[in-house]
Amino acid sequence: MRTLLRHAELATLSGATPWGAIADGALMIDGAQLRWVGRDAELPTGTVVDAEVDAGGALVTPGLIDAHTHLVYAGDRAAEFELRLQGAGYADIARAGGGIRATVAATRAASDAELFSLASARARALMAEGVTTLEIKSGYGLTGHEEARCLAVARRVAHELPLDVRTTSLGAHALPPEFDGRADDYIAAVCAWLPAQAAAGLVDAVDVFCDTIGFTPAQTRRVFEAARALGLPVKLHAEQLSDQGGAVLAAAFGALSCDHLEHLSAAGIAAMRRAGTVALLLPGAFYFLRETRLPPVEALREAGVPMALATDHNPGSSPALSLLLMLNMACTLFRLTPEEALRGATVHAAQALGLADRGTLAAGQRADLVLWDAAHPRELAYRFGHNPCRRVWHAGVERPR
Ligand code: NIG
Ligand code: FE
Repeated sequence: MRTLLRHAELATLSGATPWGAIADGALMIDGAQLRWVGRDAELPTGTVVDAEVDAGGALVTPGLIDAHTHLVYAGDRAAEFELRLQGAGYADIARAGGGIRATVAATRAASDAELFSLASARARALMAEGVTTLEIKSGYGLTGHEEARCLAVARRVAHELPLDVRTTSLGAHALPPEFDGRADDYIAAVCAWLPAQAAAGLVDAVDVFCDTIGFTPAQTRRVFEAARALGLPVKLHAEQLSDQGGAVLAAAFGALSCDHLEHLSAAGIAAMRRAGTVALLLPGAFYFLRETRLPPVEALREAGVPMALATDHNPGSSPALSLLLMLNMACTLFRLTPEEALRGATVHAAQALGLADRGTLAAGQRADLVLWDAAHPRELAYRFGHNPCRRVWHAGVERPR
């Protein structure tokens, strides 16, 4: 099946020109891939296609990529939100046995069908804004069986919806109550689960929450070593609430990304630059936890560390289901430019997942694209609470509207 899309304002995000913009552009979808991208006036003559779409001057971008979510869980933390508004701290609630542990209890009590129904509804909400690739972490099961169950639910989301899912094993998210006072034993258990998860095809990457309410750098290193032994790439919840030196450690393991990064040090930035590690910024968590310390965006920019953006959807620190809102927040709160924000949710998000075949509009890339009710790509970061997504192609197939 060949589809020709004509008369679009293309933001290809390919190359170094602003937005990779092509005015009055065209592209040809051939099967699951882009065959040709360029100016409409330069379309090769005699091209035979099965279908033609006139974009009428509308904006077309790569499909959006949400590269950090915790989509599989049951229950909510609305009561905890109220407590925090009355002055309780996120870390204090976690230390008192609430926080992630509360979600773990609700998740363990939910059936596979319930978990799938909740996760797929969340995925659909993200897809409605043009998300074509989604990362989903485990981390609310915290036993071998429960973590595998959550990863299997994440895989099933990709089987049943027109969407790509990359799974990340986050057994080292919090210490489950069964292991109270025995964090090192729990880390040994997490490492022991990984080979079976990998053998079952459930895991694309491995993550750890390295912080005072998470795990120490030494414990993080043990999980990373287990991942490396299996040839799995790593990423890290790093320097969210404090500077643990997590970014330097993750970079030493060639991490795909370090995520959050409000407390990132100059040494962390330098290590990430050398390792080619993406800085994955999560403005939803910054906003919802009412953080005041900003990630060092200017220093990351100067160092040339690619910045990505994601929703970090989870019930405790970012119950957000809008990647477009994260573009807006990244600009207003973190001072990214609208172009940096869109690159952060496309080409740099792809890099944060280790995917080179998507995130730009170029010949040979996957045909994941969005047609927007907008004329210029900066509009995507400008409005909020508004969804201009009109048509989506995932792997060359248009999603039902
Ligand atoms: O990315 N920081 C750790 N994990 C999540 C929050 C998890 C939760 O509060 O349920 C995050 O912010
Ligand atoms: Fe997270």
